[in-house]
Amino acid sequence: MSYGVNGKTYEEEPNPGQCLRTFLRDLGLFGTKKGCDSGDCGACTVWVDGDPQHSCLVPAFRTEGHEVTTIEGLADGDELHPMQEQFLDASGFQCGFCTAGMIMTAATFDEAEKQDLPRSLKSNLCRCTGYRAIADAVQGVKPADAGKADDRCGGSPGPPAGRQIVTGQARYTLDVAVPGLLHMKVMRSPYPHARVISIDKSAAEAMAGVVAVYTWEDVPTKLYTTALHENFLVNPNDTLILDNVARFVGQRMVAVVAESVGAAEEGCRSVEIEYEVLPAVMNPQDAMAPGAPVLHAADEERIRHSEQNVLVDLHGYAGDVEAGFAEADYVHQADYQSPRMQHAHLETHCSISWLDENARLNVRTSSQSPFLAREKLSYLFGLQEEDIRVFCERIGGGFGGKQEVLTEDLCVLATLDTGRPVSWELTREEEFNGATSRHPMWINVKLGAKRDGTLTAIQMKVVSDTGAYGNHGGMTLFASTNALPVYRCRNKKFDGCAVYTNNLPSGALRGYGQAQTTFALESAIDELADKVGIDPMQVRRQSMLRDGDDVVGLEVEPSDVTIGSYGLDQCLDQVTDALASGRGTPVPTADEWSVGEGVAIGIHESVPPTEHRSEASISLGGDGYFELIVGTSEFGQGTTTTHLQFVATELVTTFDRIRITQADTDECGWDTGAFASAGVFVSGRAVLLAAQALRDKILRFAARQSGAALADCQLIEDAVLCGGSDIALSELFLASEEAGVTLGVSRRAYGSPVTVGFNAHGLRIAVNSITGEIRILQSVHSSDAGVVINPMQLRGQVEGAVAQGIGFALTEDWILDDDGNTLNPSLRLYRIPTYADIPVTEVFFADTYDAIGPLGSKSVAESPINTVAPALANALANATGVRVRRLPLAPERIFQDLLDTSRESVI
Ligand code: FES
Repeated sequence: MSYGVNGKTYEEEPNPGQCLRTFLRDLGLFGTKKGCDSGDCGACTVWVDGDPQHSCLVPAFRTEGHEVTTIEGLADGDELHPMQEQFLDASGFQCGFCTAGMIMTAATFDEAEKQDLPRSLKSNLCRCTGYRAIADAVQGVKPADAGKADDRCGGSPGPPAGRQIVTGQARYTLDVAVPGLLHMKVMRSPYPHARVISIDKSAAEAMAGVVAVYTWEDVPTKLYTTALHENFLVNPNDTLILDNVARFVGQRMVAVVAESVGAAEEGCRSVEIEYEVLPAVMNPQDAMAPGAPVLHAADEERIRHSEQNVLVDLHGYAGDVEAGFAEADYVHQADYQSPRMQHAHLETHCSISWLDENARLNVRTSSQSPFLAREKLSYLFGLQEEDIRVFCERIGGGFGGKQEVLTEDLCVLATLDTGRPVSWELTREEEFNGATSRHPMWINVKLGAKRDGTLTAIQMKVVSDTGAYGNHGGMTLFASTNALPVYRCRNKKFDGCAVYTNNLPSGALRGYGQAQTTFALESAIDELADKVGIDPMQVRRQSMLRDGDDVVGLEVEPSDVTIGSYGLDQCLDQVTDALASGRGTPVPTADEWSVGEGVAIGIHESVPPTEHRSEASISLGGDGYFELIVGTSEFGQGTTTTHLQFVATELVTTFDRIRITQADTDECGWDTGAFASAGVFVSGRAVLLAAQALRDKILRFAARQSGAALADCQLIEDAVLCGGSDIALSELFLASEEAGVTLGVSRRAYGSPVTVGFNAHGLRIAVNSITGEIRILQSVHSSDAGVVINPMQLRGQVEGAVAQGIGFALTEDWILDDDGNTLNPSLRLYRIPTYADIPVTEVFFADTYDAIGPLGSKSVAESPINTVAPALANALANATGVRVRRLPLAPERIFQDLLDTSRESVI
């Protein structure tokens, strides 16, 4: 049999039962991606005889005699298909993992389909962009910002990998053919709490194709944490690579490596495990109750009260809240509940490990922190860090989910044991039952205020469900206090604890603890205003942080957090002005619709609460190109573009004159990782410092060569860097070699001192009193990001975060049964937002210059998610009088509450 793909004939035979997606990838056509393997996401879309099909649903053998076209076959030689050009022009992607499927789908649209994208794009999901940029791309709209395609700061150049992304040439973690590759699969616990009595792996070991089977008896017995932080001591060492105690449904119990994925799966099914089922606790309240099963052994230094399952408790105060409540004219107190949430990055967790010709360990991974992953692997397997190379190519989204070691350890275990390359790719279902989630939190807020809205006291009590393990449990709890500084109230108090349960481990997710408490605090502000009888905006304006204030959250002790620039007032003005403009979708005319508006404000620290550092190097190469080396990985957050803009600005050059090496522990200086919005503030600053130092060095050398005085540096700069003379950079390089001078520098940046960004979100919504449906009529966001380095990119980041916030608040509902089984472990049933769910958000930026951040900028990409849910809850209350204090604001829940609008609370 023969198969026609992209005009070429292949004689290969698909394996029995093989889908077209994996068959194409076996042919080396890696542009076709896996996001779900169930026809939900569209990342694998190809054409069969010109019709777009989800190739994961198409049996490969059925395409015999038909012509298949993949993203690699869409362009005509060097000439891109118009849809590829349009995605490039509009920057219609971030991580780019969905892009090939989007383009293959959209390239078949007629004009009517282009004008009906909610319907036409219903089978293609994007988790990064919020869809506006995709709509522009499909409809051939060139954003106004794109006209400023200057590569320097303030311009809006597209990502340097753009052409590779739209042609399917960008290489993600598993987009590589590795000879002799073994595949890993794991058998997971069916019980939330159980002890292994025995494991019989003999049948699996005897199976054809199975190479090795590992149980808890075959792995190093070193406790560790899967979380990645510069200071690993902030997380408890409570996890084993494989354990003989299961603490959640989905915990990996046995690992099988085999010659094929199918054989590994079959091997897993053949393993027999006998368990002793233990009592389980499925919420923190039960876990802390007397007599509850204790989930982890005592560890005085890292687990605060193991006998009560309390991983960590946190207490702090400023002033005297009791005095504050005593002087208040009005007090509001209520409970709020923030749910579990999935990252749903379209590229699932994956890695490949192998030994190179020098028997040195290599790990190719989808990690947000290759350096910390290397440190972890070194610890676990007793290897020197220098003996391990960890690196990333392009990553298909992260959002904090890849700030963990979840696949690398077992791959390395198997490689060290078998000597062979090993790959492990989580399925979409495993992302729900074997990865991590946002921490569910129960939050009690008590506020006191004077008649004019001045806050007199803020008290917050938080109980966080860290799940079966403590990865990120303490740090998210700490970060949850970062919602408090947005108000300048004298009296504040915080008490919180993170508690072990037999649920899936929680982890890092965009908003990191603060999305939860911002929802509670900003909902409570509106409720308080309602009690006082004044506009919630008056409370906010009266009491929000002002320029020059101390940034006070957990305590008043001096810290390194200051206001490097202040734009919260501008953010609020821009949002309220936009809401007052009358723009947006017209109000539905039927009687059952009621309309309301809601606003929320937020504050965001520019780095994580633990240390963060990054080193960047830049040099002039012999061909006159600049070589930039920085350890940050790129997963769609856009730091590559920003870093190049810093270099282009300082060295008066363009992207096409800069080569970049990144995210490789062998090639790059230390980088803590791409998380906590640190890509501009820390690694960006390292790049900027290095570029500035190189510029200085080049100018001094050029001055010396020409005999000019340093005072004439501007002339030298004009001549050398601005191309105002015949002196080419390559000639300068040769001269420097002759003179024994290296035109290269390295610089390191740290995350301290810390500045803060601000943001505000406003929404006008219509609520259907019969169905409980919410329609967003207008969505407005304003961010204070200091100087905006790349307006088009930042707009995209804000839109993407807002879209995730809408999912968090409205559509995403993680349903668990009483034993912790996820009942909807798929993108379709969990319901991340589709095109039709997301409105176009008007995005504004405050005009500020940050005194701390690089070139006046500060980080912001994480924070827009925080203010969406409270703005929605406030708009719902404004429209209907019903206050819902538990997310998501699902139609059935709203409908129930509308039935009884007299109820004060829904919890
Ligand atoms: Fe669409 Fe990342 S760009 S999923």
